[in-house]
Order: sequence, then C-alpha cells, then structure tokens
Amino acid sequence: MAAVLLGAIALGVTGIGLGRASAQEMDAATKARVEQFEKGPATIDVSKYPQGMQESYQVFSQKCSQCHKLSRPINSDYVLPDQWSRYIKRMMYKPGSNISGSEAKKIYEFVVYDSSVRKKTALDAKLQTVTPDERKTAEDAIKKVADQNP
Ligand code: HEC
Repeated sequence: MAAVLLGAIALGVTGIGLGRASAQEMDAATKARVEQFEKGPATIDVSKYPQGMQESYQVFSQKCSQCHKLSRPINSDYVLPDQWSRYIKRMMYKPGSNISGSEAKKIYEFVVYDSSVRKKTALDAKLQTVTPDERKTAEDAIKKVADQNP
C-alpha cells in the first residue's frame, strides 16, 4: 500500500517536472533574444524613484527572479504598458509562479514607470511606431501609474 502511494507521489512529481520543462522551451529566436537580455545589468538603481515604486521594485525583484535571472525583464525590449500587462499575466499563469493579483499590479506599475524613465528613449521610439489610438492608450496608462505613485 505504502509503495503504491509512494509510486503515485513520484509520478505526480515527475508529471509536474515535465510540465515545467516543456513550459521552459523557447524557439531559437526567442532564446537568442532572451540570452542577450540576461547579459545586461541585474539590478536597477531606484534611489530616485518615488517611495511606492521603490517598494514595488522589491516585489518585482523577488517574484520575477524565481525562474530566470532578473536581468531578463530588466533588459527586455518591452516598454509599452500593454506589452507589460500581457507578459506579466503570462508569467503569472505559469505553474508555480506564486504571484498574487496585488503583486502583479505592483509589478505592472513598477515596470511601466521604469520603462517611462530608464527606457524613455526606447519607449518614445516605440510610441512612434504604433497607431494614434494605441499611443493614446499607452500615454494614458503611463500617466495613470505616475499619478497614482507620486
Ligand atoms: C514560473 C516561472 C516564471 C516566473 C515566476 C517569471 N517568468 Fe518570465 N519567463 C519564464 C519562462 C519559462 C520564459 C520563456 C518564454 C515564455 O514562456 O514566455 C520567460 C520569459 C520572460 C521574458 C522574455 C520574453 C521575450 O520573449 O522577450 C521576460 C521579459 C520575462 N519572462 C519577464 C518576467 C517578469 C516581469 C516576471 C515577474 C512578473 C517573470 N518573468 C516571472 C518563466 C517565468
């Protein structure tokens, strides 16, 4: 009986392991991009960021370094609020991500703010490539985050 139970547990664990492994698989192009990101700086100097953002940076640092280096999101080419929102959701729904809704919100606000300051040049360039509607949506979302975190 105990042996059967142990077997079942072992199988269960292997099952989870396999699920994770396949979720980690990336196509070659994504892999190359992501490796470049990971070679960049692994921390952000937030000493001049608003207090709330400095706290959210802690949540970002903890939660977004569980499965890969923090340098991956830090040097990512995502800059638009929509890109971040989509990606944080994607990360959140990965098995074992351990990210709550309120943590996801803090992380979202942090990366949106950070993109508008540290990645301003890239953000401005990106805003030139989207439709006027998309630009307005992005600018409103950035403003909202800034207003909520003075
Ligand atoms: C449960 C594991 C896990 C956690 C937690 C996690 N990630 Fe990821 N991340 C991955 C995997 C796996 C990939 C590979 C590509 C994919 O699946 O999208 C990835 C890829 C990425 C990429 C590169 C995507 C690209 O194609 O440019 C970014 C950026 C990223 N993660 C940001 C984050 C952020 C921000 C957080 C915190 C909210 C986070 N990750 C938390 C597993 C995780």
